[in-house]
Amino acid sequence: METQTPTPFTVIPNRRPATDEERWIAMEDPVFGKVFTDHMARATWRDGHGWADRRIVPLAPLPLHPGAAVLHYAQQAFEGLKAYRHEDGSVWLFRPEANAARLAASCRRMALPEVSEEDFLAALEALIAADHAWVPGTPGSSLYLRPLVIATEASLLVQPAAEVDFIVTASPVGAYMAAPGGVSIWVSRGYHRANAGGTGDTKTAGNYAASMLPQAEAKAHGCQQVLFLDAREDTYVEELGGMNLVAVRADGSILTPRLTGTILPGVTRDSILTLLRDEGRAVEERDIALTELVEGIESGEILELFACGTAAVVTPIARLVSDDLDVTVRGAGEGGSVADAVLARLTDLQYGRGEDAHGWMRRVLDAPPAEETAEGDAE
Ligand SMILES: Cc1ncc(COP(=O)(O)O)c(C=O)c1O
Repeated sequence: METQTPTPFTVIPNRRPATDEERWIAMEDPVFGKVFTDHMARATWRDGHGWADRRIVPLAPLPLHPGAAVLHYAQQAFEGLKAYRHEDGSVWLFRPEANAARLAASCRRMALPEVSEEDFLAALEALIAADHAWVPGTPGSSLYLRPLVIATEASLLVQPAAEVDFIVTASPVGAYMAAPGGVSIWVSRGYHRANAGGTGDTKTAGNYAASMLPQAEAKAHGCQQVLFLDAREDTYVEELGGMNLVAVRADGSILTPRLTGTILPGVTRDSILTLLRDEGRAVEERDIALTELVEGIESGEILELFACGTAAVVTPIARLVSDDLDVTVRGAGEGGSVADAVLARLTDLQYGRGEDAHGWMRRVLDAPPAEETAEGDAE
């Protein structure tokens, strides 16, 4: 079968982009996900016609019919990944093919048309090219990309929509500041995140909508994040509202919940486990009972606990709290921790300071020519 070259994304430039000054102010200390660049990528799918109208357009509110299926039945899927500026000015994505594959899997589960890897990458590259001035260069900062697939058809029938949009927005984000000494985690006993056959391993809105109340409960108990147990037995630790969980034993080996179909397969989780295996550490992926985790922490067999994900990268966990529980993790936030070391290895790689042994980085913008100045290109 002939392979089709995807139609490139046509650029319709924003005639009123942010001024340099507005952009600098917006990028100075951006709150995560609250600042958006001048453009968005967009493509439209119609049943029987497939994907069309691939375009980069000025960022603007969407004209959406109040009967759009996504508003009523949450038929949608999304992704989250970052573009990193290296010291020479070039811009790189980290494992975007993994996010493309996860979005395709999420679309299948949500009965949405899949976005091909080619379209996914082309959209990101075209958007980054249009908004290259928005890719921060300060240490630890990046451009957060949010690909989104939504059912736009105006229809209240509970059935897969015949009209769908693929949209990508971009947001400059600053360096994530981990809480000194690690975060406190609330173990939710009343609420579960996912069940077998549900959408726990899918990146879709409903999972996050359902996590907001337990997250608020966590906050009310002085915790920053919520940890969910499995729904079937209310026994095994699964993941946090938006991050995967990893434990480090005193012997240096790694323990993490296995992917059971109810846990989001994090790209950061997979990358970190790979880097830790590269170091020769034993990595065990299996069901972990909360009682085993707590006893391990109390006995000193488990020295560190950390959460990992694209947004916060690696976050040491200092305390596990629940109605009947309050344990402190010994090694959290200490110098020389495995969490610190793996965070450094991962971010060195992402920012081009470390060797990319697995070929994870994808260059999307070349370094600007040496003679290019702040005045911009000559007309
Ligand atoms: C529920 C959940 N678990 C884990 C993760 C971590 O995934 P990743 O490392 O791909 O960002 C995320 C973030 O996307 C998430 O929302």
